[in-house]
Amino acid sequence: MRVVEAFRGAYAAEPATVWRAPGRVNLIGEHTDYNDGFVLPFAVPWGVTAALSPRTDGTIRLMSLQSPGDPAVISSWDGAKGWTRYVVGVLAMLGSRTQGADIVIDGDLPAGAGLSSSAALEVVIGSALNAVYGLGLTPMEIALLGQKAENDFVGMPCGIMDQAASALCEDGKALFLDCRSLGFRNIPLDLAAHGMRILIIDTGVHHELADGQYAKRRADCESAARRLGVAALRDVTDLAGALSVLRGDERKRVQHVVTENHRVEAVIGLLRAGAVAEIGALLNASHLSLRDEYEVSSPELDVAVEAAVRGGARGARMTGGGFGGSAIALVAEERVPAVRESVQAAYAERGWKEPRFLPATPARGAHEVAL
Ligand code: GLA
Repeated sequence: MRVVEAFRGAYAAEPATVWRAPGRVNLIGEHTDYNDGFVLPFAVPWGVTAALSPRTDGTIRLMSLQSPGDPAVISSWDGAKGWTRYVVGVLAMLGSRTQGADIVIDGDLPAGAGLSSSAALEVVIGSALNAVYGLGLTPMEIALLGQKAENDFVGMPCGIMDQAASALCEDGKALFLDCRSLGFRNIPLDLAAHGMRILIIDTGVHHELADGQYAKRRADCESAARRLGVAALRDVTDLAGALSVLRGDERKRVQHVVTENHRVEAVIGLLRAGAVAEIGALLNASHLSLRDEYEVSSPELDVAVEAAVRGGARGARMTGGGFGGSAIALVAEERVPAVRESVQAAYAERGWKEPRFLPATPARGAHEVAL
C-alpha cells in the first residue's frame, strides 16, 4: 500500500495502524444539523487513508502524498498551517491523552468538490489515535472530536453531519441522524435494485466568502430561534405562526429549516416504502428552498440542477454547505447519458468549464485497513 511505503520511507519504521475514512454527500437535510434537526448523508467511495504510529515526546510529524516534501515537524499547536490544522486540531483537542504521532496521509477525494475532505481527515486521525492510544472512543465520540477540532481549532462553526457520516456510515446505507439526540439509524439505500443512480456533479467552482456566509446563516438561525423563544429551529412546530412574527432574512431561514426537516422525514418514509424514485420531487424542493430561502446556492449549482432535471433526472439538488461544490442528481440508469449531456451542454453554452460526473454508491464509514 502506497501510504505504508511512504511511511517506511519517511520514518524508517512500520506504522502501528492504518485507517481510512470517507467523504460524504448529503442526500437531504441541508443546513439543518446546527439547528438540532435531521440529516441523511451517505459516505462516498473516496476518502483519506492515514498510516500512524504513536510517539512519546508530544511531537507530531506529518506528511501527505498530495503535497510532496519532507514531513512537517510540529512541536507546538500554533505551528499548524493550511490542511495540517485539521490533523493538529484533533491532537490539540485530545491534549495530554496522546503524546504525539508520526503520520502519513493519502487521499483520493476530488479536491474542492465539497465532499468533506476536512471531516474525512479529522475522522481518520481521530480513529487512528483512538486505536493506538486505546482511548476507548465510540465512532460518534470520534465524530464529535473532529467537529470540536474544526469549530475550536480551525475556526469553522460547522455542525456534526460531515464527521458523523464519515465515522458512522455503512456500506449500501444512508445515515439518518437526529442532530439533537445524536440517535441514528443506517437506512438501506439500494439504488441499483431500483434501477437508479445518484450522480455527483462537481461544478469545479468554489466561491470565496463561503465560510463567512456559513457563519452568517448560523447566526440568522440562532437569532430567529431566540426571537421565537425556542432552543433551536428544530422546535418550531407552528411554521405559519413563526413566519408571521419574523421578517427579512430570519423569516427565510426559518422557512427553509422547518420545511427541510419535514422533507428529510418524508424521504425516510418513501425509502422505507421502497419508493426510491419518488424522493426526486423532495430533492427538487430542497434545492429551491436552499436557492431562494436559504440563499446558499450558486449559478453553477442552479444550472447543473436545472439541466439535470431537464435531461430526465428524477430530482436534483445542491449538496453540502453551498456556494459551489457539488450537486447530486437521482437518475434512472438508462437516463444517465442524457442527463450528463444536458448538463454538459448547459455549461458549454455559458462558456463554463465542463463539470465532473462521479457515480456515488453509499460506502463504508471509517475502518481499520489490514496491513
Ligand atoms: C457543511 C457543514 C455541515 C452542514 C452542511 C450544510 O458541510 O460542515 O455541518 O452544516 O455544510 O448542511
